[in-house]
Amino acid sequence: MNSIPADFSELVRSRRSIRRFLPDPVERDTLLAILDLAARAPSGVNMQPWQVHVLTGESKTALSEAILAEYAQPTFERKAEYDYYPESWEEPYLGRRRHTGLGLYSLLGIEKKDTVRMREQWARNYLFFDAPVGLIFTIDKGLGQGSLIDYGGFLQTLMLAARAWGLHTCVQAAFCEFHPVVRSQLGIAATQKVVCGMSMGYADPAAPENALDLPRVPASDFTHFHD
Ligand SMILES: Cc1cc2nc3c(=O)[nH]c(=O)nc-3n(C[C@H](O)[C@H](O)[C@H](O)COP(=O)(O)O)c2cc1C
Repeated sequence: MNSIPADFSELVRSRRSIRRFLPDPVERDTLLAILDLAARAPSGVNMQPWQVHVLTGESKTALSEAILAEYAQPTFERKAEYDYYPESWEEPYLGRRRHTGLGLYSLLGIEKKDTVRMREQWARNYLFFDAPVGLIFTIDKGLGQGSLIDYGGFLQTLMLAARAWGLHTCVQAAFCEFHPVVRSQLGIAATQKVVCGMSMGYADPAAPENALDLPRVPASDFTHFHD
């Protein structure tokens, strides 16, 4: 078969990072079914390095409030437990990063130099973009870098499974730098590190920021055939 099944292609293409959610709740059974499917992701010697904290209701509000209190402090030292972004930004990554930020801000009517509104928009990360479900992912500190490859597969499978249930997501490195707050709020063991967070719920179709649809370079640009 040469063509990709339409259903699968539609599922993959319909996953976009959603940054404003409706308040409609998600059933616990649905969450468990999605997580069970995500756990079908492969991992080196089947290590399954993922640990997932699901936050709803008061626990989600409490984490949001605790992080936003720190976010308001200019003195809070922010450092993730692993390098997600590069230390210095070079092309083509710098241009792609700018395109992403400008695309989001222009949809929201935020001017280029309006750092106050940009900061407010970034703070919405810590409200899980109003999603009814917030997820925090952790990994055993003793595992190798390769386990983060496994984690990526788990996260993508999770996001696609969510789409199959009509749900949307936004995976968030924004939580990494607040790992001390996340750790104390959720009682995460010292042996675990915070990999990222994720918002999950039903997308608000009227929200301008949810119209962000970012392009990809074609496969012919990044694929090197060796015949
Ligand atoms: C591991 C990871 C962390 C991310 N962290 C954030 C984040 O903290 N906040 C945010 O708004 N988007 C975050 N994103 C979303 C990316 O900006 C988004 O995936 C990218 O711009 C492509 O857009 P798309 O997901 O809509 O296709 C993250 C994506 C990944 C894969």
